[in-house]
Amino acid sequence: MSTLDSILKETRSFAPSDEFRRKATISGMEAYNALCEQADDHYLSFWGDLARELITWKKPFSRVLDDSQAPFFKWFEDGVLNASYNCLDRHLAANANKIAIIFEADDGDVTRITYAELHRRVCQFANGLKSLGVKKGDRVVVYMPMGIEAVVAMQACARIGAIHSVVFGGFSAGAVRDRIQDAGASVVITANEGMRGGKNVPLKPTVDEALALEGAESVKHVVVYQRTNGGANWTDGRDVWWHKLIEGQSETCEPEWMNAEDPLFILYTSGSTGKPKGIQHSTAGYLLGAMNSFRWVFDYKPNDVYWCTADVGWITGHSYVCYGPLANAATQVIFEGVPTYPDAGRFWRMIEQHKVSIFYTAPTAIRSLIKLGADLPKQYDLSSLRVLGTVGEPINPEAWIWYYETVGGGRCPIVDTWWQTETGSAMIAPLPGAVPTKPGSCTLPLPGIIADIVDESGAQVEPGRGGFLVIKKPFPSLVRTIWNDPDRFKKTYFPDEFDGKYYLAGDSAHRDESGYFWIMGRIDDVLNVSGHRLGTMEIESALVANPLVAEAAVVGKPHEVKGEAVVAFVVLKGPRPQGDAAKTVAAELKNWVAHEIGKIAQPDDIRFGENLPKTRSGKIMRRLLRSIAKGEEITQDVSTLENPQILAQLQQPL
Ligand code: PRX
Repeated sequence: MSTLDSILKETRSFAPSDEFRRKATISGMEAYNALCEQADDHYLSFWGDLARELITWKKPFSRVLDDSQAPFFKWFEDGVLNASYNCLDRHLAANANKIAIIFEADDGDVTRITYAELHRRVCQFANGLKSLGVKKGDRVVVYMPMGIEAVVAMQACARIGAIHSVVFGGFSAGAVRDRIQDAGASVVITANEGMRGGKNVPLKPTVDEALALEGAESVKHVVVYQRTNGGANWTDGRDVWWHKLIEGQSETCEPEWMNAEDPLFILYTSGSTGKPKGIQHSTAGYLLGAMNSFRWVFDYKPNDVYWCTADVGWITGHSYVCYGPLANAATQVIFEGVPTYPDAGRFWRMIEQHKVSIFYTAPTAIRSLIKLGADLPKQYDLSSLRVLGTVGEPINPEAWIWYYETVGGGRCPIVDTWWQTETGSAMIAPLPGAVPTKPGSCTLPLPGIIADIVDESGAQVEPGRGGFLVIKKPFPSLVRTIWNDPDRFKKTYFPDEFDGKYYLAGDSAHRDESGYFWIMGRIDDVLNVSGHRLGTMEIESALVANPLVAEAAVVGKPHEVKGEAVVAFVVLKGPRPQGDAAKTVAAELKNWVAHEIGKIAQPDDIRFGENLPKTRSGKIMRRLLRSIAKGEEITQDVSTLENPQILAQLQQPL
C-alpha cells in the first residue's frame, strides 16, 4: 500500500457562491459539521429520525438497528412499508398532476407523464404481473431499453413485493442466463427491440437465446414491450405482449406491505473472482439511502428538473432514476439514446429544451463530449443548470474544469459522488451548498457515513498516504448479502483482517491535509471501463471458453475516454499466431467476448504469447502485464520470472 502514495497534486478549490449557499437546504460548513456531529453523537437516533421523517410507514419500526448478527445488519426491522407506495401513492394528494417523467426517445420524441399517470401505469402492470402468478419474493429479471416502461416494470415489482433484478440491455445471452439462473427468476420483462443512436437494438432475440441455454428453466413467462414495429419470435404460452397483459387490468393495485428488511432488488455486479455477485438490497434501508442522499447531494428543490443519464441497468439508474427522485416527487428527464446522436450537442440541446437544473452524468461521457466538441455547449442556453454531478470513476481535473466552466458557466457546484452498487447510495460527495469542491476529489463523507482510510492492520493512515477505503459503521443502504452466498458476502466485504468490523469497499484512496478523499483505484482485479465494473476473471473465463484459447490474462490500461480499456494476453492451443493471422484471431476473440459477456467487456488490445509471464510457483505476474499493456519499459525485478523471453513476445503489438 505504501506504493500507492498520492501522485495527484491538485490544489484548486471552489466554494459555493454566497447565493447558492444561502438557498441550499444544508447551507454552509457549519450546517454540514453540525449534522456530522449529530450523527457521531447519536448515531442510531440520527438514522431513526431520518427514517421517520422521510419514509411513509404502514407500521412504524420500534428499533433502529439490530447488529446482533453482524455483518448481517438489520435496520428498522419491524417496520412495514412499500417502496412503490413511497415513490407514487403518497404524492397523489399534492402532486398528482406534477410531471414525474419527461421521456426523450432516441429519435427526439418527447413524452411527459404525471405522477397520477405513472401510478396508474404501475398499478396496471403490477396487476398484469400478478395475473401471471408473480407474487411476493419471486424474482423478476428486467432486460429493457431505457424508458418509462423500465421504471414501470421496476416499480410494479416493488409494488407487489417481487424482487427485481435488472440486467443491462448491453449484456449478452450468456450473461442474461447466468443472472436468471443465479436468481432463479420466474419472469423476464423485455422489449422486442430498443433504439439507440438511430439503430434498432435486439433484446427479445437475446432473451430467447438466453432461455434456450441450460440453466434458465426457472423462467415461466416473458413479457415483451413493443418498442418498435419490428416483430418478435414467439413461444406460445410463455411469451406475452406487455399491451395485452395490461388490457382490462384495474388501474389501482393495493401495495404488498413489506417488512423493512424484505429484499427490494438484486443487482449483479462484477467481483475479482468467480461469477458476478447478486447484490441484495433491503426495502427500507435502501429507500432511505436513495431518498435522503438525493435531496442532500443534489440540493434537490421541488421545482428542479433533474436528469441522470445512467441506464436502469446500473445501480445509478436504480438509486438516482427509479427510487431517489420518485420518492422525492421530483420531475426527471429520462433519455433513451446516446450522447453523440444525432450529434455531440444532444445533451446540451436537451438541457436547454427541458430546462434541466440538476445534471448527473459519468466522467467517460464528459471526456467523450470534450473530444467531439469542446465548444458545443456554448451554442446552447444552459442557464437553467444549477448543480452538476459525476459518478462511476475518478474524474480527471481537466475534464472537471471543463465541466465546471463550459457546461456549468462557473456557477454550478460539481458533486463528484463516490459510491458503489453495494453501498446503494452516495457515500462520499460534497453537499453542494456547504462543502468546497476540488477537481478530482469526491471530498467528504455524507453525515452519518463513517468513512476512513486504513492500512493492512486496520490502523488509520496519515494524510497523503494511500490505503484501503473502509466504512467503519453500518448504514441503512448497505448491501445485505450476496444472493445465495452469505459466506462470500462476509469474506469479501467484512474480512477477518479487520476483525469483520469494517466494510471494505475494494478501492484504494488517500486523504489530503483537509481530510478530503481522493479515490485512486481498485485494490482487486476489477476494471472500471467507462464507469462500469468488469471482473478480469470474468473476461478471462470467457476467453478460455473459446476453443482456440489455452490461457488468458486480462488487465486494464489507461484510456483517454473510457478511463480504462481491456487488454488481453492470450496463449493459443496451437502455435502463436503472427502477422495477419494474429489480427484475424484477435478480431475473432474480440467478437467472442462481446458475444459471451457484452460489448463493454470487449478487449481493445490482444497480445499473443507462447506462454504468460509466471513465477516459478506458476502465478501470473499481472504487475508485469500491466506495465506491458501501458507500453512501459519493464523496470521491475524479473528475477523470479520463470520465462523472461515471453515478455518480448507480449510487448509486440499486432
Ligand atoms: O472504484 C469505484 C468507482 O466505481 C466503483 C463502484 O462501481 P459500481 O458498483 O459499478 O457503481 C458505480 C456507480 C456508483 C467504486 O468501487 N467509483 C464510483 N464512483 C466514483 C468511483 N471512483 C472515483 N470517484 C467516484 N466518484
